[in-house]
Amino acid sequence: MGNTTDKVKILTAFEGIANSRALATYQNHGGYEALKKALTMAPGDLIEIVKNSGIRGRGGAGFPAGLKWSFVPKAEGQKFLVCNNDEGEPGTFKDRYICELSPHMLIEGMAIAAYAIGAQKAYIYTRCEFYEEIAWLETAIKEAYSAGFLGKNIFGTAFSLEMDHYSGSGAYICGEETGLLSSLEGKKGQPKLKPPFPAVSGYLGKPTVVNNTETLASVPWIINNGADAYRAIGTEKAAGTKLFCISGPVQRPGVYELPLGYSFEKLLYEDAGGMLPGHTLKACIPGGASAPVLLPDELKGLTLDYESIAAKGSMLGSGAVMIIDTNTSMVRLMEIIANFFHHESCGQCTPCREGTGWIANIMHEIVSGHAKEEDVDRLAVIAKNMGGKTICALSDAAAMPTMAIVQKFGDELKAYIRKGKAS
Ligand SMILES: Cc1cc2nc3c(=O)[nH]c(=O)nc-3n(C[C@H](O)[C@H](O)[C@H](O)COP(=O)(O)O)c2cc1C
Ligand code: SF4
Repeated sequence: MGNTTDKVKILTAFEGIANSRALATYQNHGGYEALKKALTMAPGDLIEIVKNSGIRGRGGAGFPAGLKWSFVPKAEGQKFLVCNNDEGEPGTFKDRYICELSPHMLIEGMAIAAYAIGAQKAYIYTRCEFYEEIAWLETAIKEAYSAGFLGKNIFGTAFSLEMDHYSGSGAYICGEETGLLSSLEGKKGQPKLKPPFPAVSGYLGKPTVVNNTETLASVPWIINNGADAYRAIGTEKAAGTKLFCISGPVQRPGVYELPLGYSFEKLLYEDAGGMLPGHTLKACIPGGASAPVLLPDELKGLTLDYESIAAKGSMLGSGAVMIIDTNTSMVRLMEIIANFFHHESCGQCTPCREGTGWIANIMHEIVSGHAKEEDVDRLAVIAKNMGGKTICALSDAAAMPTMAIVQKFGDELKAYIRKGKAS
């Protein structure tokens, strides 16, 4: 069991350091030493270290990273590593912070991961709106090539790695790993049925590990400090630190690196300085727009880790903590969320394509004053029929917040319908 109060700076180690993105700065602070060390080890041993560290994927699903790496077939052949830097989940702004602070930390983590899984080619897939981040990443990749940390025979070993950057076109569905791989292949960014999982058949049908930016950027620290040191941070089932993006009417919104298992109330009232004057907490979406909303009572004593948030019926997701105050209309909020998922559905699966459309239409009817109170109950029925039946999890991601808002704020929605406006 780890320590959930000390604040260790792993991903934010370069906060406040001048020229933090430059290779020279990174190297002055021990940069690329983890890669050098990793290349003296057997790939299987590296996978064991990452497994023992207990790190779980930071892209939303929380799948153990080392276990995913171990699924890649050991046989010789072309393999790929892809960094999911799409950061599409509404409320999330953490991966771009890593690119802003320390792109070399990500590149080093990727080189270690590529060596561990036997990949000779790695891609960073970034959402296209991140103009500056893309430029920083491309500069850092060039620097790493010039210094011999990428390319042929890294550190004089037999390991060679080519790395490229690819920018998406701003579709949320291209953050879903199989949609991302389709997009990287130059096809429509539509998800594919799993299995086969990408670790076995991914980019161009070859074994591919897709990991989130934050997951990969944590790897150098784990190699430098060891699995036990990482495991000592956080909770038993949720090791390490996590970047939390707190937004809404709080004094100090932003990205905070905190040990998993950290108190929600400490994040809100101490780190983020509490609510802005005149604003009262009404609810919180703890893990991005896909996560069901929680009420103030449910937030009391809540700790920020996968299990504790799941026990309250929501999820840690990407770590996007969205604070909602009493001035916010849940009708408007639900309308925005519904429009988002409808717009972003790729349309392959009927429950998702039609369900997100029906929910968005009902919300439009409610907002424009044309709905009946029973339409609120219809929202719940539609949402219930969208879960667990589709190629990817976008449908569930749209259904879950809908059901939670109807269950917890159904009266507010009905009051709006009766009055024809926000109460
Ligand atoms: C609709 C949808 C959107 C997603 N968007 C992202 C994203 O923007 N970034 C990300 O890392 N993972 C995203 N994911 C999760 C990825 O499919 C995948 O689980 C993740 O990249 C794996 O990396 P990890 O194991 O390091 O978390 C999304 C999943 C779904 C269903
Ligand atoms: S669930 Fe939705 S987004 Fe995912 S594949 Fe099906 S239609 Fe596309």
